Amino acid sequence: MLTFQIEHFETIPSTNTELKKRAAAGASEGLCLIAAEQTAGRGRYDRTWVSPPGEGLYLSVLLRPNVAVEHLPLTALLGAVTVVRALHRMSEGRPALSLDIKWPNDVLLNGKKVCGILTEAGFAEGKLSYLVLGVGINLFQQTFPPGLMFPPTSLKLEAPDLPVTKEAVSHAFLAELETVYGVFVQTPQQVTKEWEQLSSYATGKTVQINTGKHIVAGITQGLRADGALLVRLPSGQVEPVTAGDVLPPEAG
Ligand code: BTN
Repeated sequence: MLTFQIEHFETIPSTNTELKKRAAAGASEGLCLIAAEQTAGRGRYDRTWVSPPGEGLYLSVLLRPNVAVEHLPLTALLGAVTVVRALHRMSEGRPALSLDIKWPNDVLLNGKKVCGILTEAGFAEGKLSYLVLGVGINLFQQTFPPGLMFPPTSLKLEAPDLPVTKEAVSHAFLAELETVYGVFVQTPQQVTKEWEQLSSYATGKTVQINTGKHIVAGITQGLRADGALLVRLPSGQVEPVTAGDVLPPEAG
């Protein structure tokens, strides 16, 4: 069972960076760092995650799953599934939120990015030593820095009547994480299945993906067992994409 030890910070460079240091120094699974502000918040591909005080949830959790290395990419999917479950839990009894997951782990609300996830792993002797699951959820932002790759939003902008607090969202997230992580360590493929149910990007979506090397354009065909997104190219060939950014519909 996963139990959490939570530490709060008024300000910190990055909860992920701090938690990686703690993990390397032997911290226990379940250590969770939550900050009101990050001065050097990090996103995927060395991007900056702008983290103004009190505007978002900036949270990192230390996990030490005993899973095969080939199942590691699934931990990115696990984070997104957990966030979607948490936001559904928060909106119970109200009109359903229109949530989606853009591969691999951006959570969208009304088609705009409301949450980003950065998972970072540490290895020792060829085995996974730790996994830091870092989650940034936009809570109260009304404006965003220019130049973001995908249109951003916040819970406040999309669901102004939802009683959102940093505490309520972090509580819902950690409660769902306990469940989803429990499933993941027993049956990693179950998380892949749930991801496919929650994401409109899983099957039949026309996408363009920037892999960093080239653009893959085609129609999605579900996930491979390791979490790679299968894309049917115009030639009919199916290409597994293991990393990259799905571009917004109007791009290219
Ligand atoms: C992305 O979409 O590029 C991922 C963003 C992840 C941001 C979170 S905020 C908490 C944790 N600490 C960080 O420095 N980054 C992650």
